[in-house]
Amino acid sequence: MERKEIEKAYINKIKELRKHDEAYFAHDKPIISDKDYDAIKEKILELEKKYSFLKHKNSPSKKVGYEPSGKFKKIQHEVPMLSLANAFSTENIEDFLKKIKNFLNIKNSEEIVFSAEPKIDGISASLKYIDGIFTLGLSRGDGKTGEDITNNLKTIKDIPKKINKTNFPKILDVRGEVYISKSDFKKIDKKFANPRNAAGGSLRQKDPNETKKIPLKFVAYGFGTVQPKNFEKQSEYLKLLKEWGFNTNLHNKLVRTIKDIEKNHKKVEEQRSSIDYDLDGLVYKVDNLKLQNRLGFVSNSPRWAIAHKFSAEKGFSIIKNIEIQVGRTGALTPVAKIESVNIGGVVVSNATLHNEDEIMRKDIRIGDIVCVQRAGDVIPQVLYVNKDKRNKNTKKFNFPEKCPSCGSKTIKEFNYTTKKKDAVTRCPDLKFNCKEILREKLKHFVSKDALNIDGFGKKIIQNFWDLNLIKYPADIFELNFEKISLLDGWGELSASNLKESIKKSQETSIDKLIFALGIRHIGQENAKTLAKYFVNIKKFEELLDKDKRKKILNYLLELDGIGETQTNSLEIFFSNSNNLSTVSSLIKKLNIADYKNSKSGIFYGKTIMFTGGLTKMSRAEAKALVEKEGGKILGTPSKKLNYLVVGDSKPTSKKIEKAKKLNIKILDETSWYGLLNRRTSIN
Ligand code: IVH
Repeated sequence: MERKEIEKAYINKIKELRKHDEAYFAHDKPIISDKDYDAIKEKILELEKKYSFLKHKNSPSKKVGYEPSGKFKKIQHEVPMLSLANAFSTENIEDFLKKIKNFLNIKNSEEIVFSAEPKIDGISASLKYIDGIFTLGLSRGDGKTGEDITNNLKTIKDIPKKINKTNFPKILDVRGEVYISKSDFKKIDKKFANPRNAAGGSLRQKDPNETKKIPLKFVAYGFGTVQPKNFEKQSEYLKLLKEWGFNTNLHNKLVRTIKDIEKNHKKVEEQRSSIDYDLDGLVYKVDNLKLQNRLGFVSNSPRWAIAHKFSAEKGFSIIKNIEIQVGRTGALTPVAKIESVNIGGVVVSNATLHNEDEIMRKDIRIGDIVCVQRAGDVIPQVLYVNKDKRNKNTKKFNFPEKCPSCGSKTIKEFNYTTKKKDAVTRCPDLKFNCKEILREKLKHFVSKDALNIDGFGKKIIQNFWDLNLIKYPADIFELNFEKISLLDGWGELSASNLKESIKKSQETSIDKLIFALGIRHIGQENAKTLAKYFVNIKKFEELLDKDKRKKILNYLLELDGIGETQTNSLEIFFSNSNNLSTVSSLIKKLNIADYKNSKSGIFYGKTIMFTGGLTKMSRAEAKALVEKEGGKILGTPSKKLNYLVVGDSKPTSKKIEKAKKLNIKILDETSWYGLLNRRTSIN
């Protein structure tokens, strides 16, 4: 069959299914039997499996997946459902501990108690109880907005529908994991690849009777809104959950030291295969909820918790070649091309060698037999060389001195924080025209945290790049979809899907745009800080004007988190004519929303600066508090400053003098805590 005919047949099946969906769900009057309905569904899935270019928003494969399908009502989580940062090693855990202690400004010798809980690989859900009645069940969705899957969750036996306990809060969002046991998974239909997919798929069935057919389980571990809060520790809450009739994990435990953590991790990992559900690690949460509250969040994950993954899987292979990839920031990364090897169910044929130093330290050569490790979704890496099996004729690998893409002489930058030369070799790309860097920037531009163009993955960028269809971001909005539909591997349907995704991405916001530009040293957090300053795109465009830019960059230096590294990088970026035209033509293609600042909080519209160390909290915590309360942090005193907070430990007298001259309100530590009115929670 020709491609066009296949697409036609596919669309017809989708239309047919839609018709029956409408009859069944909207009018409650099915026209065909369940069996015939399933046959249409099967046919669609079969076609999609056979022809990977087939895709449609109304396909049943999409609707069982996790993407918002419009099938369920979307509801905002009162308290966002966050994700967790990962730790793969003891060092990662030590780092996590250190960061917590620094943030809380407590001594290294002081102990912090953690609740260590198995991380079940299932689907998280949030269950709202009002006066003890289960009233609303939401999926995680994107963490901010979930889908109303109450009726499906109600089919799960483990979820109490009514709780008659006097100590049960008036309002409580119970959070936990919906999963399917390994043994139950074996018993059900082979429709799903793994237990997690099975749980996700059945939770998102339109018909709760379908959900009911699959033996789902629920284990509780967290909370969102609680009123009133009658517990002070995570461990206390876990105990209460049990009392209220929820399942909690049998392997939950309190741990205090790194030694404890390691011992427990090892123990659970050893039991892993005999536990009847998929576990991918342990979660550690600071047990004390007041401390959790103080620690707060960074981007999408809490500072007070981490997922300690189980050890990675390893395999051996031979290095066929070492290629140098040039990244978006010009970093040259050596990648080992290895003979394909199956490591823990995933076929691996590339492994990163990180940088030149790493190759030298491990003495990695083409032709070597190496041990490769794959951990979770991180890029596989070469651990070590089996030198006994080394061929005598192998030669040391010479790291290129020139960028393989543009031929520029490579550099190693000096890192002012570590006071050392960077390990990374870079293409300086002085003219912003290194081809590989441009291409990698496009990949960054379409990625999730940037413009988030659904379905426009790295492969498609590469494909369009090779065909000279795109070079700069604005080109994406000039694509000719009629021509694309005629390309090898494309059709009308896939082209129109892409067109729709691109159109959707044109509605964006200033913070996303700034991040999407891929300016060096301007990551997600800094992009937000800048967006907060510029608020709208008009103001941001002033950066394109040389004279205005000078003034703006000077002011930006006052913002916390923005230093000379960032302003220099902005200057270099915007003084290049190539970049100026890239940015201005891009802005014309987009509809850019202003930055949404929280218009509430005790510091709303105020600027605050700190000098000297505080005794009861770290600078990082103070900063986070100000931002949470709608305020901005400045790094130097100016007329725009509202408060200067002078900490007890080594304040800079120059700054105080200047603030005094400018008539700025000066607060000592006690008045600062008074202003926060949270003295009790710090003590
Ligand atoms: S706590 C802010 N506890 O892991 C805290 N999560 O990557 C976030 N998960 O979406 C969740 N077991 O699906 C927490 N004991 C546990 C967990 C757990 C499994 C999953 C959950 C979450 C993901 C976070």
